[in-house]
Amino acid sequence: MMDVGVTSQSPNVNNIEKLHLYDIPLHVLQNSCRLDHPLSQIPLQNYSLKKNGTDKNLRKGSAKFFYPNAALPEETLTEFLHGSFGEQKNGKRPYASAGALYPASVVLVAFEDGMKTINRTGVFHYKAKTHCLENITDFSEGAEKIKEALLGRKTHQYSDASFALIYLINLDVALYKYRYRGYRHAILEVGAMTSVAERNASTLGLSSLIWSNFSDYELSSALGINPTVTPIIMSQLFGIDKRNDEKEQS
Ligand SMILES: Cc1cc2nc3c(=O)[nH]c(=O)nc-3n(C[C@H](O)[C@H](O)[C@H](O)COP(=O)(O)O)c2cc1C
Repeated sequence: MMDVGVTSQSPNVNNIEKLHLYDIPLHVLQNSCRLDHPLSQIPLQNYSLKKNGTDKNLRKGSAKFFYPNAALPEETLTEFLHGSFGEQKNGKRPYASAGALYPASVVLVAFEDGMKTINRTGVFHYKAKTHCLENITDFSEGAEKIKEALLGRKTHQYSDASFALIYLINLDVALYKYRYRGYRHAILEVGAMTSVAERNASTLGLSSLIWSNFSDYELSSALGINPTVTPIIMSQLFGIDKRNDEKEQS
């Protein structure tokens, strides 16, 4: 018999912080006060992902520790950037964009220690059409300030990342065609970009972590951009996962 009624499993909506333990119940989505909302649940068949973790499509999850001073070959970075954001032969990019406007841009912060081996540290704008890096600043005082604004002054496990990406959107481009909906589209586009980047990084043996723990104003100021025109939406850290490396060695 089909399982009806979720009353006993329904979380108390006052415990909103515990909602992640459940699939968000419909009465919460509907902003309903009814906690005894009887719902029928339809178990879906043909669940194809293997639960034992051997499925190659299984997502690895975010990085927790990066391997310090990891040697990152230049081909890895090139392949990663082109595969994640570069314009392809058909003029499209590896992610969808409302109206193909592509209002989001990527800034690469290549950390001094993590990227030493490819001799390309500093802060760059990735140009998707021409597949090249436009130098914003070398890894001098300016870039140190950017790293600090991104990760904070205290050293922690994420300071060992090899590089970070900062995703910006250009509001003029985002809004001119779709007005206020364009803002939503642009944020969604950045979400898609982080997913493509996470998947490609994983394929190339890198780990990543979406990182929102920065001050928008401090980071905008360090990058020399105007947040009312080009707001920063998100950043993402990349490197070699220390746990994977230790597992392989043991
Ligand atoms: C929009 C967004 C912002 C995030 N910001 C941070 C962050 O600032 N610091 C952090 O440690 N993790 C951050 N994360 C990573 C989440 O904590 C992580 O994805 C979540 O714990 C699930 O773990 P998993 O990615 O390993 O599956 C962020 C994730 C998302 C989607």
